[in-house]
Amino acid sequence: MKRLLLLAALLAGFCSCADEYGYSVRDHKIVYNTPPRPAGQQSMLGFACDPIDTVRIGVIGLGDRGKDVPKRMAYIEHASVVALCDLMPERVERAQKSLVKRGAPRAKYEFTGEDGWKELCALEGLDLVYLAVPWQLHTKMAVYAMEHGKHVAVEVPAATSIEECWALVNTSERTRRHCMMLENCCYDFFELTCLNMAQHGLFGDVVHAEGSYIHNLDPWWDNYQGDWRMTYNKDHHGDVYPTHGIGPVCQVLNIHRGDKMDLLVSMDTDAFAGQDKADARYGKGTVDYQNGDLAATLIRTRKGKTILVEHDVVTPRPYNRMYQIVGTKGYANKYPSPGLALGSESLEGAAYDNLDAEKYMSAEQRDSLLAAYKHPIAREIEALARKVGGHGGMDFIMDYRLIYCLHNGLPLDEDVYDAAEWSSLVELSEVSIKHGSMPVVMPDFTRGEWDRTDGLRFAVK
Ligand SMILES: NC(=O)c1ccc[n+]([C@@H]2O[C@H](COP(=O)([O-])OP(=O)(O)OC[C@H]3O[C@@H](n4cnc5c(N)ncnc54)[C@H](O)[C@@H]3O)[C@@H](O)[C@H]2O)c1
Repeated sequence: MKRLLLLAALLAGFCSCADEYGYSVRDHKIVYNTPPRPAGQQSMLGFACDPIDTVRIGVIGLGDRGKDVPKRMAYIEHASVVALCDLMPERVERAQKSLVKRGAPRAKYEFTGEDGWKELCALEGLDLVYLAVPWQLHTKMAVYAMEHGKHVAVEVPAATSIEECWALVNTSERTRRHCMMLENCCYDFFELTCLNMAQHGLFGDVVHAEGSYIHNLDPWWDNYQGDWRMTYNKDHHGDVYPTHGIGPVCQVLNIHRGDKMDLLVSMDTDAFAGQDKADARYGKGTVDYQNGDLAATLIRTRKGKTILVEHDVVTPRPYNRMYQIVGTKGYANKYPSPGLALGSESLEGAAYDNLDAEKYMSAEQRDSLLAAYKHPIAREIEALARKVGGHGGMDFIMDYRLIYCLHNGLPLDEDVYDAAEWSSLVELSEVSIKHGSMPVVMPDFTRGEWDRTDGLRFAVK
């Protein structure tokens, strides 16, 4: 009977996807389901676990990204890397050496091969599984780790489909384990300062924000183990790597802490440069490359704000995360060089045709304001973060905050709903594009609790 109903719906053109985490097409919109919370699960909003004296960490994936995790953790009080895992034994050994070099003990447990990660997740006496593996493995490993009682920190994007996003949310809610996506750009210095300025009202009401991932990956395509990244991109339209752009601006806009991303529209170019690269890599005519050179996604929130996110990893545009905050009383942008403009007093008496009258504040004013509003977390840890490094220090601040919150039994800065919402753009942008840029009504991973929390606050003891 269920099958018959489904078939009827499909024939009528109303339903494109039958499962409970899927969508239907209604009134020229793609509407994603938000299924009720299964019995036995509780919201993870504001969740904190008991304080952990020393956070015992297992790292899975020790490639370009993961290789520096043990070293960074070795600088952090109350953190101890006790287990390492990679497909390749030499990468485990490289990570061991980085621990020793920093004066930390070698990790007690080592795992290699395709399934070594399962043994790591099952270890007794492990608190946190830290995942820096290819995207295709993130959710599978995160879910398994939570099922085995571990908190999870997972690289970006945490999930590549809506079904995976819900798997993270449901597993975290059922097991009462943290699942933090490691969105490091939320911890970059300019973004932290702007977040602080926004929370102090300097921009007035923030009405629009932008963030992107524009990074020509030409020098790196060969580095990804098993070609996982090009393999994913060649098969998918849309913004396959949205979280560096969307994460920091969602924090400024208090997404699921008073507002909610509601409606999304995506559009992409054809794959011009992408196809050329695939032809060069796999042979002309071998691959029909899907990922457009540029994918742009526009989102409207429940409170009437907008967000623009772009993805471009194949053109020669210089690195740019397009970070911009547009408020009723002020504006900030990070690239190509940081700029601030507050208020419009400078425009009084300006001639109508004098377009130069609209100015950023001077570099001196800007720098003194940025210094005055430096985020308390950056103030606390900046010197060590810059010394240890990791994208200029933001990776260290992220790890430091993760351990600080776990050690002190505090809610994490980025929760499982952030992981799901930010990662959801991977599928939602692709589905919009595949339907001729049709608007998409986004699912609500908090299941109606998006305004239960009054603004984002980073917890401190
Ligand atoms: N936040 C950031 O700034 C940032 C930067 C780079 C990469 N990343 C993310 O980090 C992740 C890894 O990227 P990367 O550049 O290090 O890729 P990589 O290919 O260099 O490393 C992936 C590692 O995972 C290992 N691996 C694969 N399958 C495994 C398995 N079954 N068990 C154990 N190990 C396995 C590989 O051997 C490899 O060493 C990706 O999710 C990527 O998006 C994030």
